[in-house]
Amino acid sequence: MSERTLVLIKPDAVRRGLVGEILGRFERKGLTLAAMVLRTMDGELADRHYDEHVDKSFYPPLKQFMTGGPLVAVVLCGDDAVAVVRALTGSTDGRKAAAGTVRGDLSLSNRENLVHASDSPESAERELKIWFPDLA
Ligand code: CMP
Repeated sequence: MSERTLVLIKPDAVRRGLVGEILGRFERKGLTLAAMVLRTMDGELADRHYDEHVDKSFYPPLKQFMTGGPLVAVVLCGDDAVAVVRALTGSTDGRKAAAGTVRGDLSLSNRENLVHASDSPESAERELKIWFPDLA
């Protein structure tokens, strides 16, 4: 079933010049781009996006990292896009993520893990409304 999902190519990826590498992996898989923007998060946007994490101990440094430079927000479409993108992204901690995934190949960090990807179709719809409110 065709789905939409939100991907944030995080500030560490932009800083390291990995946007093309990461986007290319999703495109080569067969996912299609529906929207894309380069944007720097402010604190209010970070709190909305990471609503479920704001009370966690890792949130203050995560917020600082995510608001510390531009990121690329992308809407990707395709069959089972949410699960497919999560599989390509790999588990949260880059040190433990499987080889062949974005994080497993390119990240050594639990926080600076290059990519955020919606974790369910419901999260995708919530996050898409935050980042791309005008998308039909
Ligand atoms: P993301 O997929 O964007 O969702 C929440 C983010 O919080 C996660 O990727 C990491 O960047 C960060 N994160 C999650 N768990 C931890 C942790 N234990 N320590 C530091 N950062 C974390």
